[in-house]
Amino acid sequence: MSDATDTGRLWGGRFTAGPDEAAWALGVSTGFDRHLWRQDLAGSRAHAHELHRIGVLDDAERDALVGALDRCAELFATDGFPFTTGDEDVHGAIERWLVEELGAVGGKLRAGRSRNDQIASDLRLWCRDACDELVGLIGELQAAFVAQAEAHLDWLAPGYTHLQRGQPVLLSHHLLAYVWMLDRDAGRFRDARDRLDESVLGSGALSGQTLGLDPAAYADHLGFSRVAPNSMDAVASRDFALEVLSASAILAVTLSRLGEEVVLWATSEFGFARVGDAFSTGSSIMPQKRNPDVAELTRGKAGRVIGNLVALLTTLKALPLTYDRDLQEDKEPVFDAVGTLRLVLPAITGTVASLTFDRDRLAAASVGGFALATDLAEELVTRGVPFREAHEVVGEVVRLAESRGVDLDGLDPEELAGLHPALDADVAARFDVREAIARRDAVNATALGSVREQLDRARAAAEANRG
Ligand code: ARG
Repeated sequence: MSDATDTGRLWGGRFTAGPDEAAWALGVSTGFDRHLWRQDLAGSRAHAHELHRIGVLDDAERDALVGALDRCAELFATDGFPFTTGDEDVHGAIERWLVEELGAVGGKLRAGRSRNDQIASDLRLWCRDACDELVGLIGELQAAFVAQAEAHLDWLAPGYTHLQRGQPVLLSHHLLAYVWMLDRDAGRFRDARDRLDESVLGSGALSGQTLGLDPAAYADHLGFSRVAPNSMDAVASRDFALEVLSASAILAVTLSRLGEEVVLWATSEFGFARVGDAFSTGSSIMPQKRNPDVAELTRGKAGRVIGNLVALLTTLKALPLTYDRDLQEDKEPVFDAVGTLRLVLPAITGTVASLTFDRDRLAAASVGGFALATDLAEELVTRGVPFREAHEVVGEVVRLAESRGVDLDGLDPEELAGLHPALDADVAARFDVREAIARRDAVNATALGSVREQLDRARAAAEANRG
């Protein structure tokens, strides 16, 4: 492996011996950076045009290189690119192949660029597409929630705090909460995409290059909206990858909360929803089982996505400028996180769409557990009772009802009046769950009219992300 032109190794001139086998095995990255072929070839195409503009390539050489890069893309697209064991990384493999195809002209493409700016450019391009794709997949999940909310617009449900029944809500209100959580998740990918949308080719190894290559030309070719303002920053920084990972980790955590709720709803203890057959699995031993595996895996996958973020944070911590080989560790966490979300999002979207809810169980749970105690206290407030006192009094009402084994509406009006003069016969009106929901008619609250308006906004948000 001493001749760099007949291997995928891009160095060797100053060495008398090839690399040790273990050292080589440690450094080889074709196993994962091959996923960057599309971006690498796009950068090379832009580079061929730039080298032509400055006169390093003549017309025929440029055309030969661009033609060969197109053929190379076809090989990759059909999984037929012939990697060899001498290929250290995807950049070297492509150069080796170009030299095999074109002879010396293949070796001209390396002028004025470095794998340092190449890999930074490739990963930015890859992340840019990944952000777009994930925003679209999030939009699909939002749309599934919108459809379910629409189909169950006025169904009652218990709203929880501390996993204890708190106040009644509309099921649609609960379902639409996810649309807004997911909308912020999508927004984080959009933000990350906007910030990483900078071209870095032309930075060379770290300081720029001497040939007169124009960084702005690469931005034009590759569709970046601007040029990275500092070549050292351009080759050294991976905070763009951290942002994609952090958006991924936060999304995975959102999805894990959803997964957990689906698991809970599908238990016989809750019995609020049933997951469709296509998104459930059976047990190999217990014939009666119907398990919400997709929801569980969605919950479980959050661990590895969070791990990917922590892995790259740890790699970058205290790394001196500019490029260090440690940076090769940036790719697998990003690929794994995005790949995981690519698997999870469609599966959990299908699961949400497949849910069938149990109207009676939800309605029964929405009224149990003294869920209207807050309403009663707020009614006392409208009658001039300080809330502190009202809270106390209603606490006594609840204690009394509990001791009698009835809900609030089961108490004798005289007993109620005995606890506080403001607890007259009219307060019974506060014990109706539909009334309680209708009273919460602020724009973001659970009244039917409010949720209808939220539904319109949620639909628009989903559509914007589905794009
Ligand atoms: N495989 C390397 C990476 O992923 C490419 C850049 C190598 N640069 C270098 N100076 N060795 O970061």
